[in-house]
Amino acid sequence: MPDSQAHAATGLPTRIDTSVAHEARVYDYWLGGKDNYPADRALGDAIATHIPAIRGMARANRAFLGRAVRYLVGTAGITQFLDIGTGIPTAGNTHEIAQHLDPAARVVYVDNDPIVLAHARALMASTPQGRTAFIHADLHEPDSILSDPALLSTVDLDRPVAIMLVAIMMYFRDEDDPHAIIERLLAAVPSGSCLVITHPTADFDERAMARVVSSAEHAGITFAPRSRAQTETLFAGTELVEPGVVPVVTWHPELTGGLAPTVVADPESAWYWAGIGRKS
Ligand SMILES: C[S@@+](CC[C@H](N)C(=O)[O-])C[C@H]1O[C@@H](n2cnc3c(N)ncnc32)[C@H](O)[C@@H]1O
Repeated sequence: MPDSQAHAATGLPTRIDTSVAHEARVYDYWLGGKDNYPADRALGDAIATHIPAIRGMARANRAFLGRAVRYLVGTAGITQFLDIGTGIPTAGNTHEIAQHLDPAARVVYVDNDPIVLAHARALMASTPQGRTAFIHADLHEPDSILSDPALLSTVDLDRPVAIMLVAIMMYFRDEDDPHAIIERLLAAVPSGSCLVITHPTADFDERAMARVVSSAEHAGITFAPRSRAQTETLFAGTELVEPGVVPVVTWHPELTGGLAPTVVADPESAWYWAGIGRKS
Protein backbone atom coordinates (compact mmCIF):
# COMPACT_ATOMS: atom_id res chain seq x y z
CA MET A 1 0.00 0.00 0.00
CA PRO A 2 1.65 3.28 -1.06
CA ASP A 3 1.99 5.87 1.70
CA SER A 4 -0.18 8.31 -0.24
CA GLN A 5 -3.09 5.93 0.37
CA ALA A 6 -2.61 5.95 4.13
CA HIS A 7 -4.38 8.13 6.66
CA ALA A 8 -2.10 11.03 7.59
CA ALA A 9 -2.58 10.67 11.35
CA THR A 10 -2.93 6.91 11.82
CA GLY A 11 -0.86 5.57 8.90
CA LEU A 12 -3.64 3.03 8.30
CA PRO A 13 -4.70 2.31 4.72
CA THR A 14 -7.74 4.30 3.63
CA ARG A 15 -7.92 2.94 0.08
CA ILE A 16 -9.45 -0.47 -0.46
CA ASP A 17 -6.85 -2.47 -2.39
CA THR A 18 -8.74 -5.38 -3.94
CA SER A 19 -5.74 -6.71 -5.86
CA VAL A 20 -4.28 -8.42 -2.80
CA ALA A 21 -5.99 -10.86 -0.47
CA HIS A 22 -7.17 -9.49 2.86
CA GLU A 23 -7.94 -11.51 6.00
CA ALA A 24 -11.43 -10.06 6.48
CA ARG A 25 -12.51 -10.75 2.90
CA VAL A 26 -11.08 -14.29 2.79
CA TYR A 27 -13.05 -15.03 5.97
CA ASP A 28 -16.14 -13.42 4.44
CA TYR A 29 -15.71 -15.69 1.40
CA TRP A 30 -15.58 -18.80 3.59
CA LEU A 31 -18.70 -17.65 5.44
CA GLY A 32 -20.53 -17.34 2.11
CA GLY A 33 -20.52 -13.51 2.05
CA LYS A 34 -20.35 -11.30 -1.04
CA ASP A 35 -17.75 -8.76 0.04
CA ASN A 36 -14.71 -10.44 -1.46
CA TYR A 37 -12.63 -10.21 -4.63
CA PRO A 38 -10.69 -12.62 -6.90
CA ALA A 39 -7.47 -12.35 -4.84
CA ASP A 40 -9.42 -13.18 -1.66
CA ARG A 41 -11.21 -16.10 -3.30
CA ALA A 42 -7.92 -17.43 -4.74
CA LEU A 43 -6.33 -17.56 -1.29
CA GLY A 44 -9.55 -18.90 0.25
CA ASP A 45 -9.64 -21.71 -2.32
CA ALA A 46 -5.90 -22.43 -1.95
CA ILE A 47 -6.36 -22.90 1.79
CA ALA A 48 -9.49 -25.00 1.20
CA THR A 49 -7.41 -27.44 -0.85
CA HIS A 50 -5.39 -28.14 2.32
CA ILE A 51 -8.35 -28.03 4.69
CA PRO A 52 -11.53 -28.93 2.79
CA ALA A 53 -13.56 -28.30 5.97
CA ILE A 54 -12.33 -24.70 6.31
CA ARG A 55 -15.74 -23.15 5.58
CA GLY A 56 -17.31 -25.20 8.35
CA MET A 57 -14.48 -24.16 10.65
CA ALA A 58 -15.11 -20.48 9.92
CA ARG A 59 -18.80 -21.00 10.70
CA ALA A 60 -17.90 -22.85 13.92
CA ASN A 61 -15.72 -19.92 14.99
CA ARG A 62 -18.53 -17.49 14.21
CA ALA A 63 -21.08 -19.60 16.11
CA PHE A 64 -18.79 -19.53 19.15
CA LEU A 65 -18.82 -15.72 19.01
CA GLY A 66 -22.60 -15.85 19.44
CA ARG A 67 -22.42 -18.28 22.36
CA ALA A 68 -19.70 -16.20 24.01
CA VAL A 69 -21.81 -13.02 23.82
CA ARG A 70 -24.80 -14.90 25.28
CA TYR A 71 -22.60 -16.12 28.14
CA LEU A 72 -21.17 -12.64 28.72
CA VAL A 73 -24.55 -10.90 28.91
CA GLY A 74 -26.58 -13.73 30.41
CA THR A 75 -24.14 -15.24 32.92
CA ALA A 76 -21.34 -12.72 33.45
CA GLY A 77 -23.71 -9.72 33.35
CA ILE A 78 -21.47 -7.74 30.98
CA THR A 79 -23.12 -5.21 28.69
CA GLN A 80 -20.08 -3.41 27.26
CA PHE A 81 -18.00 -4.90 24.44
CA LEU A 82 -14.76 -4.06 22.70
CA ASP A 83 -14.79 -6.28 19.61
CA ILE A 84 -11.37 -6.06 17.96
CA GLY A 85 -11.06 -7.66 14.51
CA THR A 86 -14.75 -7.25 13.81
CA GLY A 87 -14.85 -8.77 10.34
CA ILE A 88 -17.28 -7.87 7.58
CA PRO A 89 -20.81 -7.76 9.02
CA THR A 90 -22.62 -11.07 8.74
CA ALA A 91 -25.49 -12.70 10.60
CA GLY A 92 -25.13 -12.60 14.39
CA ASN A 93 -22.90 -9.60 14.92
CA THR A 94 -21.85 -8.90 18.51
CA HIS A 95 -24.22 -5.95 19.09
CA GLU A 96 -27.22 -7.80 17.63
CA ILE A 97 -26.84 -10.69 20.05
CA ALA A 98 -25.96 -8.48 23.01
CA GLN A 99 -28.76 -5.97 22.38
CA HIS A 100 -31.26 -8.75 21.85
CA LEU A 101 -30.55 -9.74 25.47
CA ASP A 102 -30.04 -6.20 26.78
CA PRO A 103 -31.12 -3.38 24.43
CA ALA A 104 -28.88 -0.95 26.34
CA ALA A 105 -25.69 -2.90 25.51
CA ARG A 106 -22.82 -0.89 24.06
CA VAL A 107 -20.37 -2.22 21.49
CA VAL A 108 -17.20 -0.69 20.10
CA TYR A 109 -16.03 -2.36 16.91
CA VAL A 110 -12.38 -2.08 15.82
CA ASP A 111 -10.80 -3.22 12.58
CA ASN A 112 -7.82 -2.20 10.46
CA ASP A 113 -9.56 -2.91 7.14
CA PRO A 114 -11.38 0.09 5.63
CA ILE A 115 -13.87 -2.20 3.86
CA VAL A 116 -14.95 -3.69 7.20
CA LEU A 117 -15.46 -0.23 8.66
CA ALA A 118 -17.42 1.00 5.64
CA HIS A 119 -19.82 -1.93 5.86
CA ALA A 120 -19.97 -1.85 9.63
CA ARG A 121 -20.91 1.83 9.77
CA ALA A 122 -23.64 1.24 7.19
CA LEU A 123 -25.06 -1.96 8.65
CA MET A 124 -24.41 -2.19 12.36
CA ALA A 125 -26.85 0.36 13.73
CA SER A 126 -27.55 0.23 17.45
CA THR A 127 -30.84 0.01 19.28
CA PRO A 128 -32.00 3.46 20.47
CA GLN A 129 -31.21 2.46 24.08
CA GLY A 130 -27.71 1.13 23.36
CA ARG A 131 -24.83 2.34 21.26
CA THR A 132 -22.38 1.09 18.62
CA ALA A 133 -19.15 2.81 17.60
CA PHE A 134 -16.52 2.04 14.99
CA ILE A 135 -12.79 2.61 15.20
CA HIS A 136 -10.34 2.24 12.35
CA ALA A 137 -7.22 1.13 14.21
CA ASP A 138 -4.53 -1.50 14.35
CA LEU A 139 -4.29 -3.83 17.33
CA HIS A 140 -0.50 -3.62 17.08
CA GLU A 141 -1.06 -0.24 18.74
CA PRO A 142 -3.54 -0.88 21.54
CA ASP A 143 -3.17 2.66 22.91
CA SER A 144 -4.56 4.05 19.67
CA ILE A 145 -7.72 2.05 20.40
CA LEU A 146 -7.91 2.80 24.12
CA SER A 147 -7.49 6.55 23.65
CA ASP A 148 -9.90 6.87 20.74
CA PRO A 149 -12.69 9.37 21.54
CA ALA A 150 -15.28 6.98 20.06
CA LEU A 151 -14.32 4.34 22.62
CA LEU A 152 -14.21 6.78 25.50
CA SER A 153 -17.65 8.18 24.67
CA THR A 154 -19.23 4.74 24.20
CA VAL A 155 -18.02 2.52 27.02
CA ASP A 156 -17.50 3.36 30.67
CA LEU A 157 -14.05 2.01 31.54
CA ASP A 158 -14.99 1.98 35.23
CA ARG A 159 -17.47 -0.83 34.49
CA PRO A 160 -16.62 -4.34 33.20
CA VAL A 161 -15.94 -4.67 29.49
CA ALA A 162 -15.68 -7.82 27.37
CA ILE A 163 -12.60 -7.67 25.18
CA MET A 164 -13.27 -9.84 22.13
CA LEU A 165 -10.23 -11.13 20.24
CA VAL A 166 -12.04 -13.70 18.12
CA ALA A 167 -9.90 -15.12 15.31
CA ILE A 168 -7.38 -12.28 15.27
CA MET A 169 -4.37 -13.21 17.41
CA MET A 170 -3.01 -15.58 14.72
CA TYR A 171 -2.04 -12.47 12.75
CA PHE A 172 0.48 -11.70 15.51
CA ARG A 173 3.79 -13.51 15.68
CA ASP A 174 5.53 -13.95 19.01
CA GLU A 175 7.89 -11.11 17.92
CA ASP A 176 4.84 -8.80 17.84
CA ASP A 177 4.49 -9.52 21.57
CA PRO A 178 0.78 -10.43 21.65
CA HIS A 179 1.03 -10.92 25.41
CA ALA A 180 2.03 -7.29 25.95
CA ILE A 181 -0.80 -6.13 23.67
CA ILE A 182 -3.37 -8.11 25.64
CA GLU A 183 -1.86 -7.00 28.95
CA ARG A 184 -2.27 -3.38 27.85
CA LEU A 185 -5.94 -3.94 26.96
CA LEU A 186 -6.63 -5.72 30.26
CA ALA A 187 -4.91 -2.97 32.23
CA ALA A 188 -7.47 -0.48 30.89
CA VAL A 189 -10.54 -2.35 32.15
CA PRO A 190 -11.70 -3.09 35.72
CA SER A 191 -11.92 -6.43 37.49
CA GLY A 192 -14.93 -8.43 36.37
CA SER A 193 -14.03 -7.70 32.74
CA CYS A 194 -13.66 -10.66 30.42
CA LEU A 195 -11.27 -11.65 27.65
CA VAL A 196 -12.56 -13.78 24.77
CA ILE A 197 -10.12 -15.51 22.42
CA THR A 198 -10.35 -18.07 19.65
CA HIS A 199 -7.16 -19.23 18.00
CA PRO A 200 -6.38 -21.56 15.09
CA THR A 201 -4.09 -24.42 15.94
CA ALA A 202 -1.87 -27.05 14.36
CA ASP A 203 -2.62 -29.40 17.29
CA PHE A 204 -5.16 -31.44 15.31
CA ASP A 205 -3.27 -31.72 11.98
CA GLU A 206 0.22 -30.33 11.92
CA ARG A 207 0.91 -30.98 8.23
CA ALA A 208 -2.33 -29.47 6.90
CA MET A 209 -1.89 -26.38 9.09
CA ALA A 210 1.69 -25.97 7.85
CA ARG A 211 0.32 -25.76 4.30
CA VAL A 212 -2.28 -23.19 5.39
CA VAL A 213 0.48 -21.09 6.94
CA SER A 214 2.54 -21.25 3.78
CA SER A 215 -0.46 -20.31 1.53
CA ALA A 216 -1.30 -17.34 3.76
CA GLU A 217 2.28 -16.14 4.04
CA HIS A 218 2.72 -16.54 0.27
CA ALA A 219 -0.23 -14.12 -0.10
CA GLY A 220 1.46 -11.71 2.32
CA ILE A 221 -0.68 -12.54 5.38
CA THR A 222 1.00 -13.43 8.68
CA PHE A 223 -0.50 -16.61 10.10
CA ALA A 224 0.75 -18.06 13.38
CA PRO A 225 -1.22 -21.04 14.73
CA ARG A 226 -0.79 -21.72 18.45
CA SER A 227 -1.01 -24.83 20.59
CA ARG A 228 -3.47 -25.17 23.44
CA ALA A 229 -0.76 -24.30 25.98
CA GLN A 230 0.32 -21.27 23.94
CA THR A 231 -3.29 -20.13 23.61
CA GLU A 232 -3.74 -20.49 27.38
CA THR A 233 -0.81 -18.14 27.96
CA LEU A 234 -2.70 -15.40 26.08
CA PHE A 235 -5.18 -15.42 28.99
CA ALA A 236 -2.50 -14.36 31.50
CA GLY A 237 -3.99 -11.97 34.05
CA THR A 238 -7.40 -13.64 33.92
CA GLU A 239 -9.00 -16.72 35.39
CA LEU A 240 -10.41 -19.06 32.78
CA VAL A 241 -14.13 -19.74 33.15
CA GLU A 242 -15.34 -23.32 32.75
CA PRO A 243 -14.57 -25.34 30.66
CA GLY A 244 -11.24 -23.54 30.04
CA VAL A 245 -9.52 -23.47 26.65
CA VAL A 246 -11.24 -26.17 24.62
CA PRO A 247 -11.97 -27.03 20.98
CA VAL A 248 -14.24 -24.23 19.74
CA VAL A 249 -17.27 -26.42 19.05
CA THR A 250 -17.27 -27.80 22.60
CA TRP A 251 -17.30 -24.44 24.41
CA HIS A 252 -20.80 -24.26 25.97
CA PRO A 253 -22.61 -25.81 22.99
CA GLU A 254 -25.90 -25.31 24.87
CA LEU A 255 -25.82 -21.50 24.50
CA THR A 256 -27.59 -21.52 21.17
CA GLY A 257 -30.00 -18.71 21.93
CA GLY A 258 -33.16 -20.77 22.28
CA LEU A 259 -32.45 -23.22 19.48
CA ALA A 260 -31.82 -26.88 20.24
CA PRO A 261 -28.34 -27.44 21.71
CA THR A 262 -25.70 -28.26 19.11
CA VAL A 263 -24.78 -31.92 19.11
CA VAL A 264 -20.99 -32.08 18.99
CA ALA A 265 -20.18 -35.19 16.99
CA ASP A 266 -16.48 -34.48 16.55
CA PRO A 267 -14.89 -32.03 19.02
CA GLU A 268 -11.86 -31.68 16.74
CA SER A 269 -13.88 -30.80 13.63
CA ALA A 270 -12.80 -27.15 13.81
CA TRP A 271 -9.16 -26.40 14.43
CA TYR A 272 -9.63 -23.49 16.81
CA TRP A 273 -9.06 -23.29 20.55
CA ALA A 274 -11.57 -21.10 22.38
CA GLY A 275 -11.98 -19.71 25.86
CA ILE A 276 -13.06 -16.85 28.10
CA GLY A 277 -11.01 -15.48 30.97
CA ARG A 278 -12.25 -13.19 33.75
CA LYS A 279 -10.07 -10.48 35.22
CA SER A 280 -10.15 -10.72 39.00
C1 LIG B 1 -10.87 -13.80 10.59
S1 LIG B 1 -11.63 -12.23 10.79
C2 LIG B 1 -12.54 -12.51 12.28
C3 LIG B 1 -13.84 -11.73 12.34
C4 LIG B 1 -14.65 -11.93 13.64
N1 LIG B 1 -13.90 -11.56 14.82
C5 LIG B 1 -15.09 -13.36 13.76
O1 LIG B 1 -14.41 -14.14 14.42
O2 LIG B 1 -16.11 -13.73 13.15
C6 LIG B 1 -10.25 -11.24 11.36
C7 LIG B 1 -10.53 -9.75 11.37
O3 LIG B 1 -9.43 -9.11 12.04
C8 LIG B 1 -9.07 -7.93 11.32
N2 LIG B 1 -7.66 -7.65 11.63
C9 LIG B 1 -6.57 -8.36 11.26
N3 LIG B 1 -5.44 -7.82 11.76
C10 LIG B 1 -5.84 -6.73 12.48
C11 LIG B 1 -5.14 -5.74 13.25
N4 LIG B 1 -3.80 -5.78 13.35
N5 LIG B 1 -5.85 -4.75 13.85
C12 LIG B 1 -7.20 -4.70 13.73
N6 LIG B 1 -7.92 -5.62 13.01
C13 LIG B 1 -7.26 -6.62 12.40
C14 LIG B 1 -9.33 -8.30 9.87
O4 LIG B 1 -9.49 -7.16 9.05
C15 LIG B 1 -10.60 -9.12 9.99
O5 LIG B 1 -11.74 -8.31 9.89
